[in-house]
Amino acid sequence: MKRKIITIDGWSSCGKSTLAKQMAKILGYVYIDSGAMYRAITLYFLRNSIDITNNEMVEHALQNISIEFKHNAKSNQSEILLNGENVEYLIRDMIIAEKVSDVAAIKEVREFAVAQQQQLGKKKGIVMDGRDIGTTVFPKAELKIFMTADITVRVERRFKEMFEKNPNVTIEEVKNNLELRDYIDSNREVSPLRKADDAVILDNTNLTMEEQLEFAMHLLDKK
Ligand code: DC
Repeated sequence: MKRKIITIDGWSSCGKSTLAKQMAKILGYVYIDSGAMYRAITLYFLRNSIDITNNEMVEHALQNISIEFKHNAKSNQSEILLNGENVEYLIRDMIIAEKVSDVAAIKEVREFAVAQQQQLGKKKGIVMDGRDIGTTVFPKAELKIFMTADITVRVERRFKEMFEKNPNVTIEEVKNNLELRDYIDSNREVSPLRKADDAVILDNTNLTMEEQLEFAMHLLDKK
């Protein structure tokens, strides 16, 4: 079968990456977590005290950032490297979640990340999740999914995930962060989060992981 590009966009903590990984595994495609790129850039900016209101400083910093994805055979997952350092775990921290949407709203940051994302999709056979993948990164993708779920369900899912790593995190903190990120992501000037006209909505509030996978694979079969 001809290799395709599958884009999965949507609100924070909808389970985009879970679905994307499942599909990539079944299809033998590459899975790319575009949000991890914005998170890694945010980590670099924080470590190097980059003032995000200073364009020159931001542009200079981007020149010193190299991002790669590497497959970890042990966990069978793709992991992100920032200048050669595996930061897959560090970028999931609340400190990053609190800053990432502001960093991702910067035009130069988006141009930097989008160029790399498009390069990764050159050979097709890729599932990429994010916010602007179907609208900006791969507007001609063969299958576009826009995921959504009830905010209460999303908060619970993300809280469980974060609590395992940090028992000090509170449900209010997680809820505020998700709502604020969704607001910034969908209201920024450069490629805001929105459903592509030809994307199919997948609301997984009441779906199991198996059911959402079946729904998505069925969409792909029809392509
Ligand atoms: O998917 P995630 O929660 O790891 O993404 C982190 C942030 O990165 C998210 O709040 C918005 C930003 N992002 C983006 O602007 N565009 C993308 N394609 C992916 C993520």
